[in-house]
Order: sequence, then C-alpha cells, then structure tokens
Amino acid sequence: MKILVINGPNLNMLGKREPDIYGRETYADLVSFIQSAALEAGVEAEIFQSNHEGEIVTKIQEAWGEKDGIVINPAAYTHTSVAILDALKAVSLPAVEVHISDVTKREEFRQISYARLACVKTFMGLGFEGYRRAILYLKEQFGV
Ligand code: DQA
Repeated sequence: MKILVINGPNLNMLGKREPDIYGRETYADLVSFIQSAALEAGVEAEIFQSNHEGEIVTKIQEAWGEKDGIVINPAAYTHTSVAILDALKAVSLPAVEVHISDVTKREEFRQISYARLACVKTFMGLGFEGYRRAILYLKEQFGV
C-alpha cells in the first residue's frame, strides 16, 4: 500500500513553534516518527510538507492513480481551504485528517474544517501518535 502524508504550513517550525501547544520535537523528528509508523504498518509512505496552498493542491492531484490513501494535516489551511477540500474530492482517495493539537478545545476560527468533509476519519490531540493511528487506520480499512 502506498500513501502520501501531507503537512501544511508552519509544521516545518515544529520544536520552535508554540511548544506548549505543539511540543518540543522538531519536524525532522516527525518525519522519522512517520517513517517508523509506516514501516511498522508495512506501508510505503511519501512525506511532503509545504507552506503553500497551491503546492498542496498539486501534490494531492499527483496522488491520483499513484497512491492508495492520504494522511493530511492541512494545518491553518484546514480552516480556510476549499481548494484543498476540492482536490481531496477530485482524487477520491481515502483520506485521514490529523491534528497534533485538539482543535475542538481551541479558538472559534479553528472549529471549521473544510478538509474533514472529504476525510473518512480524524485524529486530533494525540500529538505525533495521531499520524501513526491514521496510517494504521488506512492500512486496516483500505490496505490490501
Ligand atoms: C494544527 C491545528 C491548526 O489549527 C493549526 O493552524 C496548525 C496545526 C495541528 O496540527 O494541531 O498549524 O493542524
């Protein structure tokens, strides 16, 4: 099974960025965590991060016919991007939404998730563990 793991804007700043919310581990630590989780699940994971909405849209489009599922933390674009929602709908791949923090306990503007409308499952508030759970979920539900 081949999956694409997408991380949106500012997640490259993990470790430096609001550590009380996102923790002290870095983006490089997150990449190693995801690689280990993928290995453990027996899936092939491509890991991508971008601070640009259009690049994320293009990356999702490129998954069509190439990947079997998507794990996505759209970060701030979660709450604003109809373009990412439409891209997820366009490729019609099973997608799982992940957030490091529990967005339900945060500001009002974080209560909407456009991406969620095209996702089969959401894991939030579990830190890096959410990515492992998302990968395992895709494997269990859609893996061959
Ligand atoms: C986030 C939550 C978003 O609201 C925020 O904009 C992020 C990270 C999370 O992983 O908790 O950048 O997606």
